[in-house]
Amino acid sequence: MDSKELREQIFHLVAEYTSQVHGPTPFVPGTTRIQYAGRVFDERELLNMVDAVLEFWITAGRYAEQFEAQLGEFLGVRHIIPVNSGSSANLVAISTLCSPRLKNGLRPGDEVITPAAAFPTTIAPILQNQLVPVLVDSTVGEYNLDPDQLEPALSDRTRALFFAHTLGNPAEMDRITAFARKHDLWMVEDCCDALGSRYDGQMVGTFGQLATLSFYPAHHITMGEGGAVYTNSARLARLARSIRDWGRDCFCGYDNPPDGKCGRRFRHVPGLGDYDHRYVFSEIGYNLKITDVQAAMGVAQLEKLAHFVAARKRNFQILYQGLQSFATLIALPRWWDKADPSWFAFPMTVADTAPFARADLMAYLESQRIETRVLFAGNILNQPGYRDIPCRVVGDLENTDRIARGTFFVGVYPGLDRPRLDYILDALALFFHRYV
Ligand SMILES: Cc1ncc(COP(=O)(O)O)c(C=O)c1O
Repeated sequence: MDSKELREQIFHLVAEYTSQVHGPTPFVPGTTRIQYAGRVFDERELLNMVDAVLEFWITAGRYAEQFEAQLGEFLGVRHIIPVNSGSSANLVAISTLCSPRLKNGLRPGDEVITPAAAFPTTIAPILQNQLVPVLVDSTVGEYNLDPDQLEPALSDRTRALFFAHTLGNPAEMDRITAFARKHDLWMVEDCCDALGSRYDGQMVGTFGQLATLSFYPAHHITMGEGGAVYTNSARLARLARSIRDWGRDCFCGYDNPPDGKCGRRFRHVPGLGDYDHRYVFSEIGYNLKITDVQAAMGVAQLEKLAHFVAARKRNFQILYQGLQSFATLIALPRWWDKADPSWFAFPMTVADTAPFARADLMAYLESQRIETRVLFAGNILNQPGYRDIPCRVVGDLENTDRIARGTFFVGVYPGLDRPRLDYILDALALFFHRYV
């Protein structure tokens, strides 16, 4: 058999194996685990990955290039910078704004307004870059930064806003953007949970200068591990790529011609003399790159993205409609008028006055094989690693504490079909009927 035939046979076997081993499984109520999230894939992902493995380029290459182009098209954004996680994307985005080469960039001690109810690695890069997080309250229901807290948060050191569109629910961008413009602040949107969400018809992540995504399996598309920074600014994109790639100055991209893309690889560099541009480091960087095998999976996932977003919205609506009669026991999710969320999950908040505790409800659901999660770090200031962080706190964070005490979520991901969603609704109804 020649290599072409071997390849075809490998692909044929991989497809057959995938449908046998990873095909749909029947739903057995009470036995099948109802995940809060998970990867949804078929043979396309495995075939692309096997293709990348057989090619053995391994580091980011043609699949990564294709991924950048296709994701850029989906988002309507010029520059996509893939990285190895959403946390890395956040680190790259904030570090980019701290580049000494950036006019008006962030400097140590500058303040960044951010909600205290967060995923930890939205706040971590602020601290890692010697900036000061200014922690503000969120709203219960939307679980996003409360725009009323912005003016009270302002000081003469305020330079940026960094916040997530929590669980895919777009933050109130009219007021936030107006505030950022008025005070000339940088704005970075953590869209790790919000791929495909829109506000006033516009994709989230395109309101500020930089935005981030995660491709961990729980998110809208996956690469196993992965993430991306995106921006419409060529200047910021070049800095972000440099920080991702060891801090190097060279911006050749994937084709890597011997003389460099610029045709001036060997040049005089002040302080270095005649030097190879590939080894000129103009930033203090990291290595946060992806492999082409990850990108190959991402390309197959992108083909399904529109369908994934539609399924998440549909599943959310099924749960939302089904829970209306229990709105006195739990706060149901809310979204701003102009928001069109591509939901990550279905959040609920148990009222302090409810006749049961959140822990009871979560334990009950878990006992019914329904996965639950609390809203990430809750109040970040109560987390062991963050208790003593240098920060400024605005107000009493009352809602943040309520979220920390009462909020949890169940899944809406595309792997959940109608029988599974009905099972969640039935289980919740059974629990709530003990009290109403
Ligand atoms: C809002 C938010 N930001 C950042 C991250 C970090 O992404 P990753 O797990 O890919 O590092 C997550 C993870 O779920 C997240 O929910």
